[in-house]
Amino acid sequence: MSLRIGIVGAGSIGCYIGGALQMGGAEVCFLGRERMASELAEHGLHISDFRGMKYSLPASALHFHTEFRSLPELDFIIVTVKSGDTAAIAEQLAVVGTGGATIISLQNGVANAALLSQAMPSALVLSGMIAFNVLQRGEGRFHAGTDGAVIVQAAPRLDKIGTALVASGTPFETHRDMRSVLWSKLLLNLNNPINALSNLPLKTELSQRAYRRCLALLQREALAAITAADIPVQRLTAVPASMLPYILNLPDFLFTRLAQPMLAMDPLARSSMWEDLERGRKTEVEWLNGEVISLAREHGLNAPVNSRLKALVHAAEQGGRRDYSGEELLALISA
Ligand SMILES: NC(=O)c1ccc[n+]([C@@H]2O[C@H](COP(=O)([O-])OP(=O)(O)OC[C@H]3O[C@@H](n4cnc5c(N)ncnc54)[C@H](OP(=O)(O)O)[C@@H]3O)[C@@H](O)[C@H]2O)c1
Repeated sequence: MSLRIGIVGAGSIGCYIGGALQMGGAEVCFLGRERMASELAEHGLHISDFRGMKYSLPASALHFHTEFRSLPELDFIIVTVKSGDTAAIAEQLAVVGTGGATIISLQNGVANAALLSQAMPSALVLSGMIAFNVLQRGEGRFHAGTDGAVIVQAAPRLDKIGTALVASGTPFETHRDMRSVLWSKLLLNLNNPINALSNLPLKTELSQRAYRRCLALLQREALAAITAADIPVQRLTAVPASMLPYILNLPDFLFTRLAQPMLAMDPLARSSMWEDLERGRKTEVEWLNGEVISLAREHGLNAPVNSRLKALVHAAEQGGRRDYSGEELLALISA
């Protein structure tokens, strides 16, 4: 198969998806930081998932760049930086030129593809999203801890990407209405700040009703704004999106029975926002809760729960607390 892919932002998602595409037969070149280049040069790249898939690429099989200008000619450029870095990446790509490559944003949030498109008006930029979670385990190891597919805006020439991903065991879908897919994913991502502030693995956090009640409150505000904006909500989990707040509110014994697929994940999986706080980096909270607050405002609504949680995450970014119990968090955000 002739398929040349550039991964711009080789971190958790970039290394996992790049590794999966290379496993599926694509030629992949990674662009990332010096730190990641050294880690992969020393240990190679190892991807695995919670179902038991394992695949390793030796360092000699990897093409890793740290300079934009050294990127070769590519069919697709997949952007996998955090949302706060998209503008800078877009500017650098616009300067070096993308040589006709199709650009795919595989990021959370709802605004990244538009930002990329603004900087590169002549390029075809597609929105995409990843429904599963990837954790960096060090020494070149990237582990998918939850279930889910890669979904990309329907467009010509995506079949080879789909074939390579499916060959690696990663489900791939296209969708015509990515705006609604991204907002539906954002609803689920509202758990990221809760997980980050709980300092617990996702499975432990979601098994506790008080944390789930926090998530239900955030989702109710988001659903109100999404409905006011007339954005259809897609079903991305076993539970229809509109039912999520009700299911999350159930007592633990009922939730663990009725919502078992929502807990089918690696017991050690955590959100990437937890990883950001752990590393002392700025989080994507403005691109998640911040978007809910803006959409609500645009439609004459308020989103006070999302505002309070956003403020707590910003405090944690500045070194504040990030070990709240579910009850403490619930009291603080619903005050
Ligand atoms: N991780 C997950 O489980 C997951 C799941 C679904 C969706 N997502 C979404 O996918 C996106 C990527 O998340 P992630 O967790 O993979 O992030 P990540 O681990 O931080 O990876 C991004 C990488 O890009 C690097 N980078 C940033 N700017 C760069 C530049 N100008 N040049 C070269 N490298 C640069 C970062 O380095 P520095 O850190 O040094 O800046 C980092 O290594 C986010 O929107 C996230 O919400 C993540």
